[in-house]
Amino acid sequence: MKWNVKYFDELLSTNDKALDELCHTCVVAKKQTKGRGRCGRTWVSSEGNLFFSLVLEKPKTDAHLLSFVVALSVVECLKDLNAKLKWPNDILVNGKKVAGILLEAVDDKVIAGVGINTKVVPTGDFLYPVASLNGVYENEDLLHHILERLDENLYLLKEQGFLAIREKYFNFMLGISKQIKVQLPLEEVQGTLLGIALDGAMELKLNDSSIRLIRAGDVFLMNEGIKNE
Ligand code: BTN
Repeated sequence: MKWNVKYFDELLSTNDKALDELCHTCVVAKKQTKGRGRCGRTWVSSEGNLFFSLVLEKPKTDAHLLSFVVALSVVECLKDLNAKLKWPNDILVNGKKVAGILLEAVDDKVIAGVGINTKVVPTGDFLYPVASLNGVYENEDLLHHILERLDENLYLLKEQGFLAIREKYFNFMLGISKQIKVQLPLEEVQGTLLGIALDGAMELKLNDSSIRLIRAGDVFLMNEGIKNE
């Protein structure tokens, strides 16, 4: 699939700009002055890092599963750095967050915004420790590699369904069979991460042995070593 990649020097948010664009457009900005993260948080958009938004066709059902496809495509491109996935779509290297994905659905489109700390470690107060890729990749090369992987994974989703994506996602997923904490809007729960259901929900075995399906929340891994380089 041919992506129409549009470059901007500065935008409020590539996700906002992408709303005006057709499917298969990728909006890239050198700088964002109002980058957004998940759950209404700010995405600190330090110049030098990579910010882009993909305009995807909205599937008839389960549009949110696209965030797993995008996260998988990003992590596959960072394999050499031993990057991992923290459910649902955070990308970590050595236990620190280096990239995040914000999925927003509108009318017949899904906008998948991707922020990758390719060069600069953002400063601020973060829910999770952050790091950068130390300039190992050029932004342009990384972007094109991600678009290639994305085409392959979107095709896989279309032909074989989420089961095939989940299988690949598991290869990179952190915390399976481990104790984790999940911050939900009104409570915090703790348990053993069992896996992901076919609707993308995280399966958590609580300490009373009941199984809880989590559809939104912030996952905190316990005892997964954060390494300081
Ligand atoms: C997260 O909270 O982990 C998601 C972060 C998503 C940030 C990207 S940067 C490009 C796109 N534009 C935005 O305003 N947000 C996304």
